[in-house]
Amino acid sequence: MQEFSRRTLLQSSAALAVGGLSWRTIAAHTASSSASSITGDTIEHRIFGKTGLSIAVLGFGGAEIGYENTDQKTVDELLNAALDAGLDVVDTAECYINSEEQIARAIGHRRKDYHLFTKVGHWVPDGQPKDFAWTKDGVLASIERSLKRLNTDVLELVQLHSCNVDILKRGECIEGLEAAKKAGKTRFIGYSGDAAAARFAVESGRFDTLQTSVNICDQQSIELTLPMAKEKNMGVIAKRPIANAVWRYDAPPKNDYHTEYYSRLQKLDYDFAKGNRAKDAGPEGAAGIALRFTLMQHVHTAIVGTSNPKRWAQNAGLTKAGPLTDAQHKSIRETWKKTAPENWVGQV
Ligand SMILES: NC(=O)c1ccc[n+]([C@@H]2O[C@H](COP(=O)([O-])OP(=O)(O)OC[C@H]3O[C@@H](n4cnc5c(N)ncnc54)[C@H](OP(=O)(O)O)[C@@H]3O)[C@@H](O)[C@H]2O)c1
Repeated sequence: MQEFSRRTLLQSSAALAVGGLSWRTIAAHTASSSASSITGDTIEHRIFGKTGLSIAVLGFGGAEIGYENTDQKTVDELLNAALDAGLDVVDTAECYINSEEQIARAIGHRRKDYHLFTKVGHWVPDGQPKDFAWTKDGVLASIERSLKRLNTDVLELVQLHSCNVDILKRGECIEGLEAAKKAGKTRFIGYSGDAAAARFAVESGRFDTLQTSVNICDQQSIELTLPMAKEKNMGVIAKRPIANAVWRYDAPPKNDYHTEYYSRLQKLDYDFAKGNRAKDAGPEGAAGIALRFTLMQHVHTAIVGTSNPKRWAQNAGLTKAGPLTDAQHKSIRETWKKTAPENWVGQV
């Protein structure tokens, strides 16, 4: 079996390639024009575009538990506590090491409690050439493997995992997804990726959903893809929604996956991401502002990655503070517009 590291995925992709408003009012402007619900203490739900699914605005991103090789006991605790607190979207992928199996072991017995999303394109069975992954048969083989690893008969969503425009144009991996949908292996199909490839995927009209980077350090999608995704009523998942919390580093991070956002943040120099506010765990601290900013865009759920069992509930609490003020939101957008050079494209 061939596994792809997060770094390999990044390298290959690079080579190819509103204030004082309630969330309901924001929803009228952004993601959930048709339905946004907040009841008492429960987390807000938005209608996930044309899928019609009602999903919580905070999901779970399954990359970190795989790449960090988080122990199963911690994953059990983390995911069960999050489900108890209202989590209903779990996103993973074929290449996040053992993330799919970790998730199935932890919450496979509670399958009706959550929507399960995975991805294809970075797994090759023994004996097949590397480019098999992006063929129709490769896509279908990967879905069968994910179904087994996730211990389920059907997925809510399978996404192409950040392939480039040329692969998208060739079309056969999209045909693979469409065949899987027709065969009842997945209810919906999507594209997960950024920049020009994401734009092409949205324009193609063949996907139900888009997963893309949207955060305080990565705002290209806000104009490039999200308005068209809205027009086409696609479900939208914000990946890397908390900008990998790069304000926590005093020096360039050793994890090179975090380096680009760290270096962007130094230049963006947001006041809320330095000094005491960087350490403030409340809604006006860096994490609170970052997450609330992402949720003010045209997105339906933000899939924060974590290996910390307390994190999901903590972040759910941050979403309950509602949107930023108009002034806060405008300041983040204007800082981006005046600072970001053209090559600050969406990061895979
Ligand atoms: N190409 C693709 O399709 C693609 C690419 C990237 C990501 N994704 C998806 O998007 C998900 C999320 O991306 P990501 O994990 O890279 O980025 P992220 O969610 O922006 O950042 C996760 C990091 O932020 C930290 N964090 C979370 N909440 C925090 C808080 N309140 N205060 C301080 N630190 C906090 C977490 O640390 P702790 O562990 O300490 O909580 C973790 O290290 C992935 O898991 C994956 O599902 C998809």
